[in-house]
Parts: sequence; C-alpha cells; structure tokens
Amino acid sequence: MMKKNLISNVVQNMKPSGIRAFFDLVLGMKDVISLGVGEPDFVTPWHIRESSIYSIEEGYTSYTSNKGLVKLRTYIAQDLKKRFGLIYDLNDEILVTVGVSEGVDVAMRALLNPGEKVLVCSPCYVSYGPMVELAGGVPVYISLTEKQGFKLTPKLLEKNITPDVKAIMLNYPCNPTGVSYTKKELKDLCKIIVKNDLLVISDEVYGDLTYDFDHTAFPTLVNARERTVYLNGFSKTYAMTGWRVGYVCGPKEIIAAMTKIHQYTIMCAPIMSQMAACEALAGSREPIDEMIREYHRRREFVVGRLNEIGLKCHKPQGAFYAFPSIKSCGLNSVDFASKLLKEKRVAVVPGTAFGPEGEGFIRISYASSFDHLKEAFDRMEEFINNKCR
Ligand SMILES: Cc1ncc(COP(=O)(O)O)c(C=O)c1O
Repeated sequence: MMKKNLISNVVQNMKPSGIRAFFDLVLGMKDVISLGVGEPDFVTPWHIRESSIYSIEEGYTSYTSNKGLVKLRTYIAQDLKKRFGLIYDLNDEILVTVGVSEGVDVAMRALLNPGEKVLVCSPCYVSYGPMVELAGGVPVYISLTEKQGFKLTPKLLEKNITPDVKAIMLNYPCNPTGVSYTKKELKDLCKIIVKNDLLVISDEVYGDLTYDFDHTAFPTLVNARERTVYLNGFSKTYAMTGWRVGYVCGPKEIIAAMTKIHQYTIMCAPIMSQMAACEALAGSREPIDEMIREYHRRREFVVGRLNEIGLKCHKPQGAFYAFPSIKSCGLNSVDFASKLLKEKRVAVVPGTAFGPEGEGFIRISYASSFDHLKEAFDRMEEFINNKCR
C-alpha cells in the first residue's frame, strides 16, 4: 500500500527547471541548432584531459580528503592570491565541491534556519530559489527590469531588505542576462550589505568571462570577506562541465559547517576530476585564453545581429548569454521559443525559465560555434520577418 504524502511538501511544490522542460521538446528533433544550453561548445583542453587520464593510469582512484586534494586547494589559494590578492587558508577556508551547484546547495543548508529569508535577483539562474527552499529558507525575489539594464542598484537593494533577511545571493556575470558590475558598482552595493549585516553568497562562476572591465571578486571589497561565501568552479572557464568540480571559499566557521554537510552527502569530489582541476590551474593558459577570446568575438557578432534583426538587446558584459527583448514581436516568451523551434529549428530558452521578470525576453547562449550562430541568426531573421512584421 502506498503511503499518502509520499513526497515532501517542499519538493512537491518545487517547479521543474524551465530549461529542462523546454529541452525535452528539442530531443528527437532533427537539424536543430541549439542556442539553449549554458554549456561551452568546446571540449576540455587536451592537457587537462591528459593529466586526468594519466592520474587514473597511475592508480589515483581513491577518496580524497573531504575538503579536496591538498594540491588542488593549494593551487586554488595561489590562483585567488595572484588574480585578486585574496588570501584564503587552504586548510580551513577552502572546500572543493561537486561543481558550483553543490556549493550553492551546501551554503544554503549551512547558513539558513527555517523561515530565514534570502534575497535573490530575478531573472536569475534556475537553482537559487529551489536551493533556498530546500534548505528551509524563503527566497525573496528582487525584480530587475530591462529599464535598469537588469542591474541591481543600491536603492533597489535597500528597498528589499527587511529585518528577517539574512543573506543575499549574487551572481555576476549573470546567467541569463550577461550583466556584470564594475568595482564601483559593487562597492556601493557592498556598503548597503555591510550596513544591514547581510551574508553574501557570491556565484562568480563566469568571472573569467568578463569582457569590458576587470572582474572584481566580492570578498575583495571592504568588510566583505568576513561575510562572503565565494563560489567558483571549472565548468565554464575551462569547459569542464562534465567533470563536476568547483570550490567554495569563506570564513573558517562557515567552511567548517559546509564541510560537515559535504562529508555526509558527498564525501569528496571525484579524484580524477580534482586531478584535472589541478592541471587546469597549474597548466598552460593558452587554450583557455583562446576560448575566452572566441566568446568575446561571438558576443560582438550576436549583439550586432540581434540589433540588425530588430531584437533589442543590452550588451552583455560577461558569461556567454544574450537576453534580447522579443516584445516587438507580440508573442510571449514561450510561444516565441516554441514557434522558432518548430518552424525554424532554432532552440533558445524562454526568459520566463529564469523568473516572471523574464517574460518578453529569450536567452540566447553563444557557447555555440560561429558557423552555427551565423546559420541560427539567418533562420531567426526569416522567422522575425515572417511572424513579427
Ligand atoms: C550561474 C551559474 N551557477 C552555477 C552553475 C552550475 O555550475 P557547475 O557546473 O559548476 O555546477 C551554472 C550552470 O549553468 C550557472 O549558470
């Protein structure tokens, strides 16, 4: 006999990811050009793959320390010091995770008591709200609009802070809008955060893919380090999505709490992936820099073509996404994406997958080859000429 209420209320109420739901449609369709998935089209550079293969041949097949290989934590600490002047102790301020995804989950579970609120910008990456809820917290969405260029401003932030808000989830460059923040903009946000004594969970997985100015790591700001859980990983910069490896840095007390959860649920990230991550940080930067240059080149092309075909788009400052308005077309986001897929075999993600503020927008990923992008935009142009004029 099946028990009633088999599934927990939190999970029952959780909506499945709008991206996945849409891409189930794509499966099985022929000749589709996908500008949908948020995943590099490059394979992991060879020197990184080779180092992992070699480690397996050498017999590295065991668990590692819960916190991750000392060698990897050493490289992470060195990398953060070199790039941002950030000092994290490899022994108790760094935890290697199964991607940034695990970092978000474990951070929420370590920090939140039932009912505590977390500010989350919307539109945003699909996992933040559900991860807050799974941890028993309450996401409070801050609506970002096209008018403000989808940017969080100090005024907007302050307006949304109430006494029961404990933390804010940041993500820059942002998935899905590509928006990032200059150091000055971050400083101004940080002042409000410090004044209101909030914790910050800062997902900077696209930090290396910042095109117009230097990326500022949140914990480098005045009084930010002690309140920031810094999340980063290898999926995007190094084209290593399938290896599932990332890391979290933060104050000792928070990392110790997160490590407790991680040790019971995950034990450790796979050793062969950690070996690959070591090579990613210590090996040649050349193939990595080449991928970043290529994304930059594609951004120029994509933004140029979007404007040409009449889809208004602010210039994304980072990541590999554009978030154009399709309002001029008179279709809602889901209808636009479905019709474009059915009629022209181009897959994009409806903006509503990232929150209700995404209505009237689509997300285009330019982590796709130049030839694919060219063809996809020609098809999209035909679609718009047909449907929207
Ligand atoms: C903003 C953001 N954070 C985290 C992730 C997940 O990263 P990982 O592969 O390291 O788990 C993604 C993946 O698309 C993302 O866009």
